Amino acid sequence: VLLTSGDRVAVEDPGYGPPRRLLASLGLRVTAVPVDGEGLMVDAIPPDTRLVYVSPSHQIPLGMSMSLRRRIALLDWANRNGGAIIEDDYDSEFRFGGRPIEPLQMLDTHGRVIYVGSFSKTMLPTLRLGFLVAPPSLRTALEAAKFLADWHSPLATQAAMARFLADGLFARHIRRTRSVYQQRHQLIVDYLTRSFADVLEVVPSSVGLHLAAIAPGASVDRIVAILRRASAVGVECQPLSMFAAGDSPRAGIVLGYGAIGSEQIEEGLARLRACF
Ligand SMILES: Cc1ncc(COP(=O)(O)O)c(C=O)c1O
Repeated sequence: VLLTSGDRVAVEDPGYGPPRRLLASLGLRVTAVPVDGEGLMVDAIPPDTRLVYVSPSHQIPLGMSMSLRRRIALLDWANRNGGAIIEDDYDSEFRFGGRPIEPLQMLDTHGRVIYVGSFSKTMLPTLRLGFLVAPPSLRTALEAAKFLADWHSPLATQAAMARFLADGLFARHIRRTRSVYQQRHQLIVDYLTRSFADVLEVVPSSVGLHLAAIAPGASVDRIVAILRRASAVGVECQPLSMFAAGDSPRAGIVLGYGAIGSEQIEEGLARLRACF
């Protein structure tokens, strides 16, 4: 709706691959902008950028939240340059502590932010339902684009989901699952802190269904080899390097706990440790 082939868009490095590849497939020039401990480094956005894709609540894959200061700087950038921001808030329903910082969409007073959410993490990925909150100025064009793409998402599934929300069952489901995920998150952090301290540094985070750990002394190739060994003994983790958007991949691992039973975590991490 907002871009034509040849326009420049910026993504986080490291960041989530599918939107990066989608944007590139539309003939857009995709620039990788580094993230630091506060999130996307706004000063490094190239001047002719039209749109920025970010994950402020829980940076994918590193896991920290974008600071309020950085959020304001990003909104300022959008206002000054006539740019747009896609805010991918894919898993912040699972927050285990700390105070959430306001989404860009709520801080935005100029209609610059398109807020995107998903039921893939909160419900299940096979539902294929997501949602967006767009500024009023874009709604007609977005509806037309959606209609052109696939008419609409499945109506029966949407109706069931709407009912689940309206009846308060979704909120109850989130409350229940949040405590399960919090327990898994804590189990993993405790184990890594106890038994991997010589090889991995956990990136502090308190949101979502995955956490990241940096491997300061290791090469990317070594981590990939370790994770290949882990896969052979039934433990699946992702190398942090898989999320590199530019040409400087970092050595580390991403541990997802959405689909593993809490009682299997210690055994899994023990096997992973043996692979190191
Ligand atoms: C960063 C990020 N955004 C969005 C999604 C959800 O995508 P979808 O709604 O297409 O399943 C995911 C799922 O893994 C994700 O990691």
